[in-house]
Amino acid sequence: MIKTSISILDCDFNNLEEEINKINLSNADLIHIDIMDGSFVKNNTIDKFSMDNLSNYSNKKFDVHLMVDNPENHIGKYINPLTEFISIHLESKGDIIKSLNKIRDNNIKSGLAINPDSKISDLYQYIDLVDMVIVMSVYPGKGGQKFIKNTFDRVKILRKNFNNIDISVDGGVGSSNSHKLISNGASTLVSGSFLMKSDNINNSIKNMLKE
Ligand code: DX5
Ligand code: ZN
Repeated sequence: MIKTSISILDCDFNNLEEEINKINLSNADLIHIDIMDGSFVKNNTIDKFSMDNLSNYSNKKFDVHLMVDNPENHIGKYINPLTEFISIHLESKGDIIKSLNKIRDNNIKSGLAINPDSKISDLYQYIDLVDMVIVMSVYPGKGGQKFIKNTFDRVKILRKNFNNIDISVDGGVGSSNSHKLISNGASTLVSGSFLMKSDNINNSIKNMLKE
C-alpha cells in the first residue's frame, strides 16, 4: 500500500487546528513536519511548529523531516507518542550514525533524506540503520517548488538495490508525477501544496494513487 504524507509547511498557522482537522478527516497516512534551522537551509521553522499543539489537534502520526545541522541536538524535541518517523539529512553536519541510532533507540523509525545533487550510493553505507529514505525532488528549504525530473531514475536505482526499505519522495509531488514514482518503487509520497491547496483532499489523494 502506498502511503501519503501531507506537508503542513505552508498551511495557515493562524488556523492550525482547522488545518490539521482537514488532514484528520482525510485518507492521508501521515503529517509531514518540515523543521529547518536557518543553518542547513536558510529558512528557520523551529518556532513555527509546536509539538504540543500538533499532538493535541492531530489523529494522524507524524513524519518529521529535519533539515538541520547537528541533528543529534534536535531529535529529542520531536520524540512524541505520535511520531512515527524522524528523518535527518545525509548532507547535515554532525554525526549521522549517532543520530540514526538515537532515533531508533526511542522506538521511532529512522529516515535519511538525500538532496537532489548528492550521489545515491553515498546512502548505502547507512542503509542498515535506516527504515526510510527520503529522495528529495526539490532543493530543501521551501514548499511549492517544481519537481526535479531525474528523481524518477534515482528512485528506480534505489528500489533496484533495496527491496525492503520505505522510499519516500518529497518536493513538488502531485498527480502529474505520482504514478511514475510509484511504478519506479516509491512507497510514500509527501505532498504539501498539491494536497493542501486542493478543494477535496481525498479526491486529490485518489488521483495521486490511482493506477
Ligand atoms: C521542502 C520540504 C517539502 C515541501 C513539500 O524543503 O521538505 O516537504 O514543503 O511541499 P510541496 O509539496 O509544496 O513541494
Ligand atoms: Zn519535507
